Amino acid sequence: MILSLTTCTEDSREALRIAGRRAARRALQHAAASPLVEIKRETTGKPYGVRRDCARPIALSISHAYPYALAFASTKSRLLGVDVERIRSFSPRIENVFLTPSELNWIKAHSLESRDIWRTLLWSMKEAVIKAIGTGLRTHPARVDLTPILSGSSAICIHGYRLPATVYAARVGSTHWMAAIALPPFGRYTLS
Ligand SMILES: CC(C)(COP(=O)(O)OP(=O)(O)OC[C@H]1O[C@@H](n2cnc3c(N)ncnc32)[C@H](O)[C@@H]1OP(=O)(O)O)[C@@H](O)C(=O)NCCC(=O)NCCS
Repeated sequence: MILSLTTCTEDSREALRIAGRRAARRALQHAAASPLVEIKRETTGKPYGVRRDCARPIALSISHAYPYALAFASTKSRLLGVDVERIRSFSPRIENVFLTPSELNWIKAHSLESRDIWRTLLWSMKEAVIKAIGTGLRTHPARVDLTPILSGSSAICIHGYRLPATVYAARVGSTHWMAAIALPPFGRYTLS
């Protein structure tokens, strides 16, 4: 699995999309060990790659948050999701909407001044999950429960179903988090 991070000098939607495609091409080329790659999209907007010489699909996910663009690619049969997110504050109302009760307890175990850092990490991991399953925000983030991974298991829950998950999260400089998630290619995901 290949992660490719790039920076963008201009804070515009178009410049970030171009930087995202640049990161995606680089990740796809490394994953496929070939320069002959193309970026395609499902009707939902979820991106994937193909190797032009053998038409084999390559799992792909893209994210951008100025000044970063990030892509995640793999030739393995996995659902991939990636997110890069600027650390920001969340109102109590928003926090109560997107976090589950046990995630809220996990946040409360941290010092007051560090909580926005941890809230942003959980938001970023949830975005990576809903991008991996391809529904985006049509799946309510509270339907993704990160409690297993927060307590040391390699798993997450979606709509109450526990799935094995490979999760990678890291700070990008002092201002951003990035999260990358790989899920097994099975299951039926609903939009609620
Ligand atoms: C996918 C989604 C979560 C992206 O969130 P975001 O924080 O705005 O943006 P990010 O930079 O992290 O990600 C954007 C990338 O997500 C990818 N993406 C778009 N739709 C996707 C989907 N259904 N599944 C997985 N990835 C998707 C695209 O590659 C996009 O970048 P690109 O257009 O430059 O290629 C959000 O756009 C979404 O939920 N879209 C689908 C549902 C929808 O349209 N909802 C409207 C609001 S309810």
